[in-house]
Amino acid sequence: MVDRATVDRILDTAKIEEVISDFVTLKRRGANYTACCPFHHEKTPSFSVSPSKGIYKCFGCGKAGSVISFVMEHEQMSYVEALKYLGHKYGIEVKEKEESAEDIQNRLHHESLLIVNDFAQQFFSKQLWESQEGIAVGLSYFKERSFTDETIKKFLLGYAPNSKRALTHNAQLKGYKKDHLIEVGLTIERDGTGELFDRFYERVIFPIRGISGKVIAFGGRKLRGDKEIAKYINSPESEVYVKNKVLYGIYEAKGAIAREKKCYLVEGYTDVISFHQAGIENVVASSGTSLTTGQIQLIKRFTNNVTVLYDGDWAGIKASLRGIDMLLEEGLEIKVALFPDGEDPDSYARSHTKEELKEFLDNNEEDFIAFKHKVLNQEVSKDPLQRAKLIGEVVNSIAIIPDAITRSVYIEETSARLRISQELLAQEVAKIRHKKQSDTFYRQQREQEREERLKGITDFGQGSKQTTAGKVPTFVIDTYCEEAEKEILYYLLKFGNYPIHLEEEFAYGATQIEEQNVAQYILSQLQNDDLELQNLIYKEIFDEYYTLKEHEQERILRYFVNHPKPEVAKFVANLIAQPYMLTIQQFSKTLIPERNVLGCYVPKAILIYKAKITTQAAMNLTEQLGKAQKENDTQAQAELIDQLNTLMQVRNLFSKELKRIIL
Ligand code: CTP
Ligand code: MN
Repeated sequence: MVDRATVDRILDTAKIEEVISDFVTLKRRGANYTACCPFHHEKTPSFSVSPSKGIYKCFGCGKAGSVISFVMEHEQMSYVEALKYLGHKYGIEVKEKEESAEDIQNRLHHESLLIVNDFAQQFFSKQLWESQEGIAVGLSYFKERSFTDETIKKFLLGYAPNSKRALTHNAQLKGYKKDHLIEVGLTIERDGTGELFDRFYERVIFPIRGISGKVIAFGGRKLRGDKEIAKYINSPESEVYVKNKVLYGIYEAKGAIAREKKCYLVEGYTDVISFHQAGIENVVASSGTSLTTGQIQLIKRFTNNVTVLYDGDWAGIKASLRGIDMLLEEGLEIKVALFPDGEDPDSYARSHTKEELKEFLDNNEEDFIAFKHKVLNQEVSKDPLQRAKLIGEVVNSIAIIPDAITRSVYIEETSARLRISQELLAQEVAKIRHKKQSDTFYRQQREQEREERLKGITDFGQGSKQTTAGKVPTFVIDTYCEEAEKEILYYLLKFGNYPIHLEEEFAYGATQIEEQNVAQYILSQLQNDDLELQNLIYKEIFDEYYTLKEHEQERILRYFVNHPKPEVAKFVANLIAQPYMLTIQQFSKTLIPERNVLGCYVPKAILIYKAKITTQAAMNLTEQLGKAQKENDTQAQAELIDQLNTLMQVRNLFSKELKRIIL
């Protein structure tokens, strides 16, 4: 991590309009600048830069952020890389935290491993292009597969010669350490004799690059010939090669993935390479295994849309369905395209033009749920049991999708396809989701309880807490309150450190002995009712706000707009990018500056939030009550009615209060 002082120095110096104009031609308009958005295609400018707020926003595609997020997004850099870029531009040195002696040692070790890999890559390339054997065997192999020189160079392809010691010997002559060679797996030490020889020999070499382009591992393919040896051998896991976080081709593809807003997923090295050669660059390979969460996270840095490409091998496809469920669970939008019998992405790309390939992909991709149904349906006869199992499988996949709207779209489609009523499907999906949610809830609760037991009981000095009656139930999972939560965050981020003088109508009952600021007021108001923001990102911002040592509002805001987590930075930038249409402001036609009426706006925002959250809770209870009635569970009914009554009283209080204030 880069230390705060350095980040601050960069933010103090960097001018957002200067940085952006290195990439985009900005036109001045009043206090702001406009341009055609660099993140989507458009003819009339809807991209706007505000130097005073230090943010950009595109009113067309919705992209928004700070100077750091612009560089990250536009140049596909990580947070630290973007800071280094800006540091370089403004002559500020960016060091990643003082390193301890141990840190330095680790870093040097890590770098040494990368340097060894870099040497090996160059060695294999040189063999391919310059040695007689390499040209005759390796290069001709690639040529036979119709890879062009340009392609071979782009993917740093190489050749490992027939001698079993060429690389190791050469590396040692050049002073590379035996231990490092062994650690990255290029060299193997024979047990007993200690004899060293190469892992890769008589193979063509596919270097595997990490996201920043460094070579972290190798794959070696055997040449033609029917020798009984593995088709591919790959580098073993090492400190620099953590397999489940690597996708072949990510470095070469990342720009295109972000641009096209889509990532094609294929199986092998050659599929990726042939797609590039055909002009389609947003493609990565899982290298023959099913995807891991780490790999999904890697894709998600650039897009949520993944199209999985299959060759027509049904057994393989069936085996992979589970893996795809995992993609759904991560919130990715999954499409699937099946290549014709006997073709794989590699062969298809080589035997067709770019246009044909593109057309094929566009015409043949279908959404995963439909695809899964089709695959499973193949072997389902009229047997009702099998049919039920199939429906169960499809419902399972739908239940996994995190987004409610997407789920309901799928329910609708599936209902038509399977000829089952939407209600029934929705019920089944809800059942599975409910079970999962309560499982997670109870698990988290157990974890929390355990943590609390470990910590001992902490009293925050509030004296006796309120009784449970009148308290708002807290685990309500919905977006119903999101706008109200946003509003609270708006006041917190923009005015948190401003003093709040409660208007008379809010002051009664409140014991305002010493002067409060907006942040303290909000916190105490929520804590009084044991409320936590429901939206997890909002909650994270809210919680982090209260851990900051900063006192200047401008700097707090700036910290959040430049937050290391892009989703936080983006949300905050959006929140302050345009005059936010506040629910309360709709009631108020006043032109008084906001900060002068905090004493009335903030309490109103909180009241609206509480009213909403109680309504939401009441809705949930009503639903549960309905279920209990159906199931004839009288005890549960009685309890629920009891809770509902209390809740209604609370809610009526809030609404009465609101009416009194607003009317
Ligand atoms: N793979 C592997 N080890 C094997 C076989 C396959 O690591 N013994 C991985 C490789 O990453 C390979 C991918 O799985 O690229 C897909 O395998 P396959 O389709 O057999 O290889 P292709 O890349 O298609 O190679 P080719 O077209 O030369 O057959
Ligand atoms: Mn192949």
